[in-house]
Amino acid sequence: MSTALVTGASCGLGADLARALAARGHDLILVARTAEPLDRLATELADEHGIGARALPADLTVDADLERVAEAACDSDILINNAGAALGTPFDRTTWADERRMLALNVVAPSRLVHAALPHMLRRGSGRILVVSSVAALGPAWQGTAYGATKSYELAMTQSLAYSRHIRTSPVALTALVLGYTASQFHARAGIPAPPPSLTLASAYVAKQAVRAIHRRRPPVVCVPSLRYRVLAGLLRHAPYRSLTVPGFAKDFTAGPADLGGPDAGRVVSPRDEGASEVPVVEGRQDGRARS
Ligand SMILES: NC(=O)c1ccc[n+]([C@@H]2O[C@H](COP(=O)([O-])OP(=O)(O)OC[C@H]3O[C@@H](n4cnc5c(N)ncnc54)[C@H](OP(=O)(O)O)[C@@H]3O)[C@@H](O)[C@H]2O)c1
Repeated sequence: MSTALVTGASCGLGADLARALAARGHDLILVARTAEPLDRLATELADEHGIGARALPADLTVDADLERVAEAACDSDILINNAGAALGTPFDRTTWADERRMLALNVVAPSRLVHAALPHMLRRGSGRILVVSSVAALGPAWQGTAYGATKSYELAMTQSLAYSRHIRTSPVALTALVLGYTASQFHARAGIPAPPPSLTLASAYVAKQAVRAIHRRRPPVVCVPSLRYRVLAGLLRHAPYRSLTVPGFAKDFTAGPADLGGPDAGRVVSPRDEGASEVPVVEGRQDGRARS
């Protein structure tokens, strides 16, 4: 039996990642700030799947809490860096305290947890790390905010580590989940309108895809759930940056709520979503095979 540590497990994608991991028989350590939903989920999943599950309430933006979680990550076989948040306000109108919290949550915390867990995984000769990034990482798609940059950092860090010779040739694997619109509290918390339902992925679906990807013998370095977002990821990756100034193509937070469009709004994606594959379109695979 192996243990998975999931951050941001009190709701949204994190709770569904925990469910998908429990269904595969992993013991769980569930991390978020609010203890009550974590306790409830731990009890529910322990009863349902006969696994060990415990809540580890922690604010990942607080150093002492982060160190407690880092300690738990050292003994984990699977590390899921999922907790994250956005500020749906232009950079020049946020407070520095809010920006700093976002950087602490989206950049510092995942770095610290990977830094804590990775050496132990390499020493044990097994381990999986998932870092939840975003389609917004692939270009200046969330214009006027620093959110996309934090997700770019997570993507770049994951790729940089995963492709390094030392790790590539080990049984340990890192995967970045490049996520499109997904149903959760994310947009409400950021203070922005919910995305159109027709473009929104179910978090249970995303979680199953991600958990399946990290259980492969050679997990992909990048996992993009759903065909439409793989198409969009490919476009964002290869489109000249100048095209991101075309009205409606990118989401510009400095433009005012009525003008928010953007690739997340799906104007350039395939109308069909055949769902379900974690084949990376934007990068090669853990085993170094060519781009697909
Ligand atoms: N939803 C989307 O459309 C979308 C798209 C692309 C990428 N993403 C990424 O997906 C990930 C999951 O987000 P979600 O959509 O599931 O959002 P969500 O519903 O808002 O969930 C965020 C989770 O993070 C936890 N969290 C927030 N601040 C925290 C802190 N300081 N310390 C510890 N835990 C904290 C929250 O729990 P507490 O409040 O109890 O702490 C919650 O469990 C994020 O990294 C996000 O950037 C989401």
